[in-house]
Amino acid sequence: MAPGTAARPRRLKTQDWVRPAVYYGSLVPLVLLAVRALTDRLGANPIAEVLNQLGLLGLVFLVASLACTPLKIAFGWKWPVAVRRTLGLFAFFTLLFHFVVYLVFDQQLDLAAVLRDVGERPFITVGLAGLVLMVPLAVTSTRGSLKRLGARRWQRLHRLAYLAGALGVVHYLLRVKADATEPLAYGAVLGVLFLVRLVDWARRRAARSARATP
Ligand code: HEM
Repeated sequence: MAPGTAARPRRLKTQDWVRPAVYYGSLVPLVLLAVRALTDRLGANPIAEVLNQLGLLGLVFLVASLACTPLKIAFGWKWPVAVRRTLGLFAFFTLLFHFVVYLVFDQQLDLAAVLRDVGERPFITVGLAGLVLMVPLAVTSTRGSLKRLGARRWQRLHRLAYLAGALGVVHYLLRVKADATEPLAYGAVLGVLFLVRLVDWARRRAARSARATP
């Protein structure tokens, strides 16, 4: 190799360490919950405790994934977009597990009882609607799906994540009986994130029409 042409080591980008940090960091609360379950430290009502912890964690992951693009818009950071998919998938699988715990341990796989519950308790209906909305998002989260659908259609479909988040907040709001502070706080964060997206969309639309005007 000619002198001076030796390959220089690639500079470590923020994404290179943020991606594994977010992945392993997201596993921590799930592993801690599993350890509590395996060591019988879930309190007097273990099923309700696991359900609530998984529901809350799923909502946190969902809101965190929805915060990625607004963070890029507001601060110009690139790294949040690199962890958006990981956080979205953590949200989906945590909430799927939340549903499985409900189905297996709360309802003992009695599908008739589940259907009755869905019909009778708006809290369950709304939660299920949120989870169902997340299925097409998880299925189309791959690069291949992005290519197949095209960026525009993919982005339009993935806006459903906001609706899933809003349904998750309503589900939480309907579940709490006395103090609604926490679900309202999640709702407020979601509202701010949506507002950032809306302002950005309006700005880009105005710039496009300004460019199109001769
Ligand atoms: C977008 C989807 C969903 C989100 C974001 C979500 C979130 C939550 C949250 C935040 C809680 C309360 C946690 C706490 O009080 O600390 C919760 C509880 C619960 N969720 Fe969900 N959930 C979702 C879907 C579902 C589905 C599909 C079902 C079942 C059909 C379900 C059944 C329950 C039950 C039974 C509880 C516990 C209620 C209690 O112990 O009183 N959730 N969920």
